[in-house]
Amino acid sequence: MKISVVGAGNVGATTAQRLAERELAQEVVLVDVVDGLPQGKALDMYESAPVLGFDTQLTGSNGYDETAGSDIAVITAGLARKPGMSRDDLLAKNSAIVGGVVESLVAQSPDIILIVVSNPLDIMCSVALAKSGLPSNKVIGMAGVLDTARYRSFIALELGVSVRDIQAMVLGGHGDSMVPLVRYTTVSGIPLAQLVSQERINAIVERTRKGGIEIVNYLKTGSAYYAPSAAAAEMVESIVRDQHRLLPCAAHLSGQFGIDGIYMGVPCVLGKDGLERIIEPELSDEESAALHVSADAVKETLAKLEL
Ligand code: NAI
Ligand code: 2OP
Repeated sequence: MKISVVGAGNVGATTAQRLAERELAQEVVLVDVVDGLPQGKALDMYESAPVLGFDTQLTGSNGYDETAGSDIAVITAGLARKPGMSRDDLLAKNSAIVGGVVESLVAQSPDIILIVVSNPLDIMCSVALAKSGLPSNKVIGMAGVLDTARYRSFIALELGVSVRDIQAMVLGGHGDSMVPLVRYTTVSGIPLAQLVSQERINAIVERTRKGGIEIVNYLKTGSAYYAPSAAAAEMVESIVRDQHRLLPCAAHLSGQFGIDGIYMGVPCVLGKDGLERIIEPELSDEESAALHVSADAVKETLAKLEL
């Protein structure tokens, strides 16, 4: 197993370290445009191997020759929004970056599975699908595992119980209109609504939707990366170990939930071939309407791009 991680910034580097520590690949290649950055970080990580006891090889590169024969790539390359830049500026710039990255990866590894992380996530998945020419089961986006992890964390904090005992899923686009499925949220099988007041549930849902900006407001110069890299590594693990985990991931929809032609967070079974299938839980009218609101937001942004 060989995994490439493109973008050696906060999310990419942390993801590479997590993959290596869990020995999810024999080889991890870290790629970035900044001279020395992926090489230096990869070497630093490899020098932690004797202490941590892993045998994964880590190398860094500014090109793609070293990625040849990769089974999986995690794409974290991209810009963060800066003062004076509109969302559309970011959209155009990151589309160009992700499009170029994907073409270079596929040229070296035609059977690769892509896990997209760069934002705006659901749109970047569509860019990756269009530019890669890969089938949609091999192009998946990471956001739902992160959003769900935030939701589960907040519930665990509210109840003073272990995060391990919170079962939940957050669906929809990776934005303010994401849809935590409250009705399906349980604490060791007990419905959340039996344990937490509606007012507190509403507050937890709202905090989940704003989970990304909460971290940005603390960090000021960047966005979250510890939880995002953990989420990306969980998706990689399900593929590498063919675990068939049922995880909320951005998948290309072709009619599921009545939505077509966009990427959005839905329950996905991940195994050795990438996305094995999408599971469609029964949704109430209210839940379905919320999912369509989220889908409309994704469609509106996607319409600004020519793919
Ligand atoms: P960062 O700024 O720390 O790292 C981005 C890296 O990409 C930089 O090292 C930069 O040099 C590199 N890069 C830029 N253009 C490149 C190219 N053409 N080829 C290769 N590398 C290139 O940013 P961070 O925090 O690592 O975030 C990365 C992306 O992931 C951002 O778009 C961010 O918004 C997104 N993100 C998405 C999450 C999700 O849930 N889907 C969660 C967290 C971050
Ligand atoms: C997050 O949710 C920035 O999308 C990123 O933290």
